[in-house]
Amino acid sequence: MRFSAFRRFFSFMSTSNKVFVSRKIPQPAVDLLRAAASDARLDIDFWTDENAPSRADLLRRVRGVHGIYCCLTEKIDAELLEAAGDQLKIVSTMSVGYDHVDVRACVERAVRVGNTPGVLTDATADLTVALLLATARRLPEAMATVRDGTWGAWSPFWMLGAGLRFSTVGVVGLGRIGMGVAKRLRPFGVSRILYSGRGEKAEAVEVGGEFVSFSELLRISDYVIACCALTDETRELFDYVAFEQMKRSAVFVNTSRGGVVNQDDLRRALETGLIRAAGLDVTTPEPLPPDHPLVHLPNCVVLPHIGSSEMKTREDMATLAARNLLAGLKGEPMPSEVAL
Ligand code: DGY
Repeated sequence: MRFSAFRRFFSFMSTSNKVFVSRKIPQPAVDLLRAAASDARLDIDFWTDENAPSRADLLRRVRGVHGIYCCLTEKIDAELLEAAGDQLKIVSTMSVGYDHVDVRACVERAVRVGNTPGVLTDATADLTVALLLATARRLPEAMATVRDGTWGAWSPFWMLGAGLRFSTVGVVGLGRIGMGVAKRLRPFGVSRILYSGRGEKAEAVEVGGEFVSFSELLRISDYVIACCALTDETRELFDYVAFEQMKRSAVFVNTSRGGVVNQDDLRRALETGLIRAAGLDVTTPEPLPPDHPLVHLPNCVVLPHIGSSEMKTREDMATLAARNLLAGLKGEPMPSEVAL
């Protein structure tokens, strides 16, 4: 631990804590922070816009703070930690994913990191299933015909999609969200649920999940769903080699992070019929430019990262991030701390 940790302890004893909140956040979390500020020596600087501050603004506003409350769009790297200064104790992100936080750089500075797992599981699993169905049953394409007048007479062959009944679903990363997706898909009459990842999971029995290698999952599944965190191991895991192993009829769904996919390879796979379709709630970059080829492929459904966009879920994420921040400032156990 650096000398800065001792400095931080003495500064906690003697001065007030300053925090920067990088976004307009749901009111219950604001109330929680304000209540804490009135009880303790806590000085909160709220960024009041719904949009993220620019990098320059961020670097400026974190200077001298003890806590940073951020979202997944703020890159928390060595440069930012340096700009904040040695007194920084805690980075609390209002997201379950923390690939935007350089955890190693935080460890080096003894800065604790909090995130928000659990509270967004249901919302994200719901959205994953919605996206899978919308992609497999071609809902956006079908809706477009209603709007543009190309809705013709009923035909036995028109707008045919793929169903879930008797299908094999492959979940890559059977964590909380992957389990939520598997539980939701079981009642659709799927035959098998496969999963791949670092190792077998005891809880997989609840959904009859079968642990297989990544390659086997790709080869056998009708639906391949990416629910894994973005790490060095999973970056661009879904590349041309992976798509090539999938069935020509496979539907690929990603609600984790855009970085797990090589998008040029996905585009090629969709254009050449290597796989049937893809549903993406996450892309690189975000927002994806409207003229990006993936946006215009009829067999690709792109959503603007709305996995957790559900009112109560966002309140729960925001309040959990606030509780993490407050606990971290006091040096207490955080409700959800990233294991460093
Ligand atoms: C998260 O919390 O990481 C989600 O991607 C936000 O929707």
